[in-house]
Amino acid sequence: MIRLEHVSKRYPNGHVALHDVSLTIHRSEFVFLVGPSGAGKSTLIRLLYGEERPTTGDVFVDQFRVNRLRRGQVARLRRQLGVVFQDVKLLSNRTVYQNVAFAMEVVEASRREIEKRVPQLLRLVGLQDRQHHYPHQLSGGEQQRVGIARALVNNPHYLIADEPTGNLDPDTARGIVQLLVEINRRGATVVMATHARDIVNALGRRVVAIDQGRIVRDEERGLYSHEA
Ligand SMILES: Nc1ncnc2c1ncn2[C@@H]1O[C@H](COP(=O)(O)OP(=O)(O)O)[C@@H](O)[C@H]1O
Ligand SMILES: [Mg+2]
Repeated sequence: MIRLEHVSKRYPNGHVALHDVSLTIHRSEFVFLVGPSGAGKSTLIRLLYGEERPTTGDVFVDQFRVNRLRRGQVARLRRQLGVVFQDVKLLSNRTVYQNVAFAMEVVEASRREIEKRVPQLLRLVGLQDRQHHYPHQLSGGEQQRVGIARALVNNPHYLIADEPTGNLDPDTARGIVQLLVEINRRGATVVMATHARDIVNALGRRVVAIDQGRIVRDEERGLYSHEA
């Protein structure tokens, strides 16, 4: 379970990005986080994986109180929580296979585990035929699929995605969201910040809307906005 309790975030320059936000996300939910640019979506996501700390309030992910974790514990948290970004940042001199394998090498997975897991992940994201390609040989959607495979190497309970389709055309974006839906169907909790109005409206999942650092709407089968 993800839980924010009265979380506020004030950046060192004085800007308050989140005001008294409380939110609970249960295991196996699929949640869209929507809101205009600057609303605080990325700030909320950075609090979840320990990249930023709240100024006041608490952030819990399962047994972790994220805002109190020491560095070594943050590494443990991040094995439970895969993160995907708009801008994928693959290692340009490594193949698709090697990019995913590298994410396992850094957590000291065994050669055997890597040789078993990487092909499974590449099949899941539909890139088994691209495994020997280098990032510059991939489309934007394919690069994002590598990013998703990489986020899943530790078989995390949570997949957190910050505008993962922000750079993609609508058809490609739909394919990426279908993949996230499939990952959710297999048991992972998915939280996706997005501007993709049509996708949010088509899926009919929980929608948490943020505006100026406050949660302004939280609906079980929500739309991107009221007027949609
Ligand atoms: N590191 C930072 N320092 C100061 N202000 C920031 C920082 N990061 C974000 N902000 C500000 O906080 C607000 C929320 O930003 P962000 O969480 O990125 O919103 P969103 O992802 O919804 O566009 C914005 O006004 C932004 O300019
Ligand atoms: Mg953002």
